[in-house]
Parts: sequence; C-alpha cells; structure tokens
Amino acid sequence: MSAVRFVPALLAVLALAACNRADSADREEREERAEENPLIEMQPEAARRDPRTQIFLARGCAQCHAISRLQVVSPTNVGPDLSTAAADVPRRFGVQLDQFLRSPTGTMQIVLSGQIQLSVQERDSIVALLRRLDTNNP
Ligand code: HEC
Repeated sequence: MSAVRFVPALLAVLALAACNRADSADREEREERAEENPLIEMQPEAARRDPRTQIFLARGCAQCHAISRLQVVSPTNVGPDLSTAAADVPRRFGVQLDQFLRSPTGTMQIVLSGQIQLSVQERDSIVALLRRLDTNNP
C-alpha cells in the first residue's frame, strides 16, 4: 500500500478511536452523575438495583414518596407511600390511578405541571408498575 492510499485509512481509524473515547467518557460522566445523585445514593442496594425503581428515582418521585414494597426510601416522605397507590387513589381522589396521573389534583397537579413532566410512556409505565405492586388492586 502506498503512503498516499494509507492516509485516509489511518484517519478513519483515528476518528473511530476518538469517537469511542468520547462514548466511554460520556458513560463515565453519566455514571458519576448517578453516584452524585443523593436520591439514588441514599437507596438501599436492593432498591438501587431493582429495574422497577429506576423511573421513580430518575424522575424524582422518591424525593417525596417512599415505595416500601420496592424498598425505596424518601428523604422527605412529603407524599404517601406509593406501594398501595393503585387502591388508595380511587378511595382518596375518586378516580383510577391512570386518570389521576393524567389530570391530577392537589399537590400532584402542581408537581406534574411544573417540576416533573411525564411523557405518555413514562406515565403508562408508572401506572403499570404501581398496579402490579398493589396486590389489593382489582
Ligand atoms: C414535591 C413532592 C412530590 C413529588 C416530587 C411527587 N409527589 Fe406524588 N404526591 C405528593 C403529595 C404531597 C401527595 C399527596 C396528595 C396531595 O396532598 O394532594 C402526592 C400524591 C401522589 C399520588 C396519590 C397517592 C395516594 O395514595 O393517594 C400518586 C399516585 C403520586 N403522588 C405519584 C407520584 C409520582 C409517580 C411522582 C413522580 C413522577 C410523584 N408523585 C412525585 C408529593 C410529591
């Protein structure tokens, strides 16, 4: 291979290496951020590892809500334990859980229209998770 033909190949390899480095730097940064997130840090190992808890930790629900059945703890416990929300919401608010999260009242109206905006998928996941968690739920 002549030197001239070799140069583009070399550049391609260097560019690829640079990309890989950037990817792993990103990943490390994300992991560091997770470690620095006190809400995640304060969770017991079981809660931190459980895939079912991730959305509640990532979206900050645990800031105000414990979920005792998933061993999720809250630094404030401002809101009720979400373990039995699927059964509690109809009793307290007169609507099903999915309806409540779609058009919440009270504190959650303020939270979900400002501080935390849920996508439709996130809301569906949360409803499904909380329904499965609550064994009293019909
Ligand atoms: C800033 C604090 C705060 C955050 C953050 C928060 N909540 Fe709440 N939540 C409350 C409070 C307080 C209540 C009690 C209802 C009321 O007073 O209106 C509540 C009530 C609820 C209820 C009804 C529970 C029941 O048993 O009646 C559900 C469900 C709920 N929140 C889900 C969530 C989810 C899901 C998230 C994350 C996306 C979240 N909350 C984030 C404060 C919060």
